[in-house]
Amino acid sequence: MNPEGKRLCIRAPAKINLFLHVTGRRDDGYHLLDSIFLYTGLHDRLTVAPASDLALDVGGAFADGLAAEPPSRNLILRAAQALRDATGTREGAHMRLEKAIPLAAGLGGGSADAAAALRLLARLWGVPSDKGGREELLSRLALALGADIPPCIDSRPARIGGIGERVVPLDEPMPAWGLLLVNPGIPMPTPSVFAALRKADPPFTEPLPARIPWQDTAWLAARTRNDLEPFAIRLAPALGRLLDRIGALEGCLLARMSGSGATCFALFETVAAAERAARTCRAEMPHCWSWAGGFHVPDEVPSLLRLEMD
Ligand code: C5P
Repeated sequence: MNPEGKRLCIRAPAKINLFLHVTGRRDDGYHLLDSIFLYTGLHDRLTVAPASDLALDVGGAFADGLAAEPPSRNLILRAAQALRDATGTREGAHMRLEKAIPLAAGLGGGSADAAAALRLLARLWGVPSDKGGREELLSRLALALGADIPPCIDSRPARIGGIGERVVPLDEPMPAWGLLLVNPGIPMPTPSVFAALRKADPPFTEPLPARIPWQDTAWLAARTRNDLEPFAIRLAPALGRLLDRIGALEGCLLARMSGSGATCFALFETVAAAERAARTCRAEMPHCWSWAGGFHVPDEVPSLLRLEMD
C-alpha cells in the first residue's frame, strides 16, 4: 500500500488520431498502423483507495453504457486483475471512475481508463519503480489488454507504429490549437470498421518518414488522412455529412474522423475559435454530443497525479 494509506486520483485523457494510415496486415489479422496520438483536455477521472477486495463504481455523463457491460469485459477491472496476477499482491482497491469520454467513439476512452488504472494501482500497491522495471511491466500488461493501450500509459503526443505498441514520443512542441469534438451518437465498433476495410481490400498506405511536419495543418490535409474514414462512412453515411459540415465551420483548419469513429474532430487556431464553432454545432445539431477545448500539455502530465487525503 502507499505509505500514507491515501486515495490517489488521476486524469485519463481522451486521444485523437491526427491521422491514421493502415500500412499492412499481420498474419493474425491485426492491421499495421502509422498514426499520431494527441491527448486532449477531455478526460475521465479515476480515483483509487486501499481495500482488501477489487471494486469499481462508475459515475459521470457516460456511466450508463459502462454499467451495462459485464465486469469480466470492463477494462479497468481487467487491468487491475492483470496487475494483481503479475505482481502477486494480495491488496485490493476501491475504484471510482467519472466517465466523461463517450464510449466506443474513437477517442480511446477505455484504453485511457485501463492505462490510468495500471499507473494508479502500481503506485497504490507499491510496485517497485527501480531500473525502469515498473514501466516495462505496465507496458507489457497494457499491450496484453489492447493494442492501443501502451501509448496511454504516459499520455504524451506520440507517433504510433506496429499494431499500436510502437510508441515514439514527438520531439516538437504541441501547437496551441483549439479542438472541437463532435459525436453523432452512432455506435461504431472498431472490429466492424476494420472488417469493412478488410472486405474492400484497398491498397495499403506507404509509411511516412520518421520526421514529418505534423504541426502544419496544410501539410496534414494534403498528405495524411484517416484510412478508416471511408469505411465508417459506408457503415453510417450521416458521418460523411457531419464531416462536411464541421469542415466548413468558420476558422476550421482540418476536420476528420478520429480512430475508428464515430467521433470527428476539427482543429482551430485558438481554443476561443473552437468554442465558437461548438456553439454553432450545438445550435445546428442538438442531437450530437460536442466538446471544445485545448490539448493536454505534456509538461502538465506529472502534476496530474496527486494525492488526496482520505
Ligand atoms: O485492440 P482492440 O481490441 O480495440 O481491437 C478491436 C478489433 O479491431 C480487433 O479485434 C481487430 O479486429 C481490429 N484491429 C485491427 N488492427 C489493429 C487494431 C484493431 O485489425 N491495429
